Amino acid sequence: MDGNGRWARARGLGVADGHRAGSRALRPVVETAIDLGVESLTVYAFSTENWTRSVEEVEALMEIFGETIDRELDDLAAQGVRTRFVGRRDRAPAWLQERMAALEAATAAKTRLNLWIAFDYGGRAELVEAARRLIENGTAAEDVDEAAIARNLYAPQMPDPDLVIRTSGELRVSNFLLWQSAYAEFVFTETLWPDFGPDEFRASIEEYASRRRRFGGR
Ligand code: IPE
Ligand code: MG
Repeated sequence: MDGNGRWARARGLGVADGHRAGSRALRPVVETAIDLGVESLTVYAFSTENWTRSVEEVEALMEIFGETIDRELDDLAAQGVRTRFVGRRDRAPAWLQERMAALEAATAAKTRLNLWIAFDYGGRAELVEAARRLIENGTAAEDVDEAAIARNLYAPQMPDPDLVIRTSGELRVSNFLLWQSAYAEFVFTETLWPDFGPDEFRASIEEYASRRRRFGGR
């Protein structure tokens, strides 16, 4: 969900206003995903690298995540959205960790759409953590295979993405789902995240549907 800062700057607003606008763009996209029968949607909300931003911006983001949980996600829960977080938990403020856990518990029985929020997430950190878990479990070297690594990722139940959409014109992966997106299709759009809406989400999925996936075969 990239481009909040540029969206704000273009309007002479502060960066927090951009993040707030970005948080409001989430619900229409999730609702469109429900309409389209998407089973699983992962959004990249905060990366392991985003901690390097100013204290003011990080604090604003944490506030906005809390507000978003209260404002939007309760409503989505009413529409059958099960929300889970993928990434580290231990570095978020305690009050936010509590709200994250409460939302996961409150939506645990929902089945219409699985929404995964990548928070304090980095693909490399996830793989390091998986290696650590394998060693801690006493896994023998010959038992380390792709399935074993997949079982030790942050959210083993999260399916690999078929499609990754990146907004704001950046043409890079930025540490998102490195393992899981091995065979994902990518759609890049110039649109800044706060302006990304249902029409473009549908168009991205149509673009995806026109691709022929070969998974390395002929
Ligand atoms: C994405 O918007 C939101 C987060 C990283 C939390 P940015 O803040 O990266 O927006 P730009 O890239 O500065 O426009
Ligand atoms: Mg950015």
